[in-house]
Amino acid sequence: MSTRMPASPADTAVVRRLKIHVLRYNPQDPASKPHLELFEVDEAPSMTLFVALNDIRDRQDPSLQFDFVCRAGICGSCAMLINGRPGLACRTLTSVLGERITLAPLPFFELIGDLSVNTGKWMRGMSERLEAWIHSSSEMDLRRLEERMEPELAEQIYELERCIECGCCLAACGTARMRQEFVGAVGLNKIARLRLDPRDQRTDADYYELIGDDDGVFGCMSLLGCQDVCPKDLDLQTQIAYMRRKMLRAAVFSGR
Ligand code: SF4
Ligand code: F3S
Ligand code: FES
Repeated sequence: MSTRMPASPADTAVVRRLKIHVLRYNPQDPASKPHLELFEVDEAPSMTLFVALNDIRDRQDPSLQFDFVCRAGICGSCAMLINGRPGLACRTLTSVLGERITLAPLPFFELIGDLSVNTGKWMRGMSERLEAWIHSSSEMDLRRLEERMEPELAEQIYELERCIECGCCLAACGTARMRQEFVGAVGLNKIARLRLDPRDQRTDADYYELIGDDDGVFGCMSLLGCQDVCPKDLDLQTQIAYMRRKMLRAAVFSGR
């Protein structure tokens, strides 16, 4: 009589061998040409693309470039094209993907190398163009900075502040592909957030100066790729539609 114990599910689970194709290119190296490079990785339980890419860098190619800071969907630095769709590598489980995975850098942003792009430079430039900070000039305004805010309003502002500036919305936006200066859903969301804030003393006419053109709210063609891919599930469609109505109104009232 056999004394062998029946195999547990863990014993019989088949480990997948992932075939990860990475778009490699170093724009600093004149000899470098864009090409897909295949790396094979044994999948581990609860593996994310962050873990898989680190495995590749540790064991196969230390020169592979990609960005991670928080590993928790907070810093926005690990956004890339995952099978052609913008997403966060640290929040993407390999188990939701097929065995063959293709990774490429986010389009639209300056390429640093391989999967690393300079989203920070573009975001800084956009924030400066939109003056995306609270404008409170007089002493009285400064006192208002300390005033208590209604919880409902604070909640609304907090909801829009959840943006992590990952750049996925721009990578998924047809307008952004055509207009490098387009502020995108991320920029329009910033203005919507400031507009809600009673500490920002600017009027709709002031906001119109910043986003009342084709690089702003009138450049949006309601393609909604931004909303589809936003990893924070922000209701960008509603914010953009609301800002468009407000800016149209501002234009009518100012006789533009
Ligand atoms: Fe990322 Fe969403 Fe913010 Fe765009 S709006 S930068 S997709 S978090
Ligand atoms: Fe682009 Fe989103 Fe408008 S994808 S066109 S910003 S609705
Ligand atoms: Fe910070 Fe992915 S590493 S969001």
